[in-house]
Amino acid sequence: MAQRVRVVALDWDTFSVWFTQHWLPGEHVSIVTPTGGGKTTLAVGILELRRWVGVLAPKGIDDTLRSLHAQHLADWPGDRRMTAMLAQDERHGRPSHYVFGPNVATYRQDWPKLVGAYQRSLEGMFRMENWTAYVDDLQLLVQMGLGTDATQWLISARSRHLSFVSAFQVPKRVLTAALHEPSWIFASQTRDATVVDRTAEVLGRPKAEVRGLLEETSRFTWLCIGRDPTAAVMVTMPPKRS
Ligand SMILES: Nc1ncnc2c1ncn2[C@@H]1O[C@H](COP(=O)(O)OP(=O)(O)OP(=O)(O)O)[C@@H](O)[C@H]1O
Ligand SMILES: [Mg+2]
Repeated sequence: MAQRVRVVALDWDTFSVWFTQHWLPGEHVSIVTPTGGGKTTLAVGILELRRWVGVLAPKGIDDTLRSLHAQHLADWPGDRRMTAMLAQDERHGRPSHYVFGPNVATYRQDWPKLVGAYQRSLEGMFRMENWTAYVDDLQLLVQMGLGTDATQWLISARSRHLSFVSAFQVPKRVLTAALHEPSWIFASQTRDATVVDRTAEVLGRPKAEVRGLLEETSRFTWLCIGRDPTAAVMVTMPPKRS
């Protein structure tokens, strides 16, 4: 019988150096754990490793997301204006981290205001290459009717060196592609059968073993499952943000 999955525990600083070297442009990341499990904290930690970041935050901007210190744009400003803003960021030696979309609450009646801005931002980033898009709760985006746009990113963006990072709680309520297209899955403290099944499939290990691994993760500690199933699985804990 093949060896059990080897779990290597890495502190955040060691992990981020390792991940900077291994997370290639065009590789997607999915972050899955129940509510309050530290998804946004982890997302901010890895987004800081990227230069051009566009965030869609359908739940609104909480303290954790605020710690990314992104600039806020109510809508995609147009490709020419965006290009000028990126050049300006570069001149000032600052990362181009943006939150796109009007900063409104997430009541259903506000959704039409968000949907157009989100769609234009996703399309704009897609046209420009090299962006990392982050969706802070993919479930809401799908409920807003933007599942097709997200799927398009997941399926077509890799060849354009675009990465799609998404956080969600229940894979069944999002998109099959959200667990099948990413090169990296971060999971913590979940008993969700879809996550267990997919992780077991990627690692080529029995479900019971993988279920045990996921249950053993302590709060804010993550199993990082990379695209190479023979590589060790990392356990990390990003620093608290809020
Ligand atoms: N590594 C950590 N150490 C200590 N506290 C943490 C850590 N990660 C997250 N937290 C705290 O836990 C709370 C929830 O974290 P976070 O907002 O990242 O979770 P979430 O999964 O995105 O939550 P939600 O489901 O509400 O979006 C925050 O108060 C955050 O500061
Ligand atoms: Mg969150």
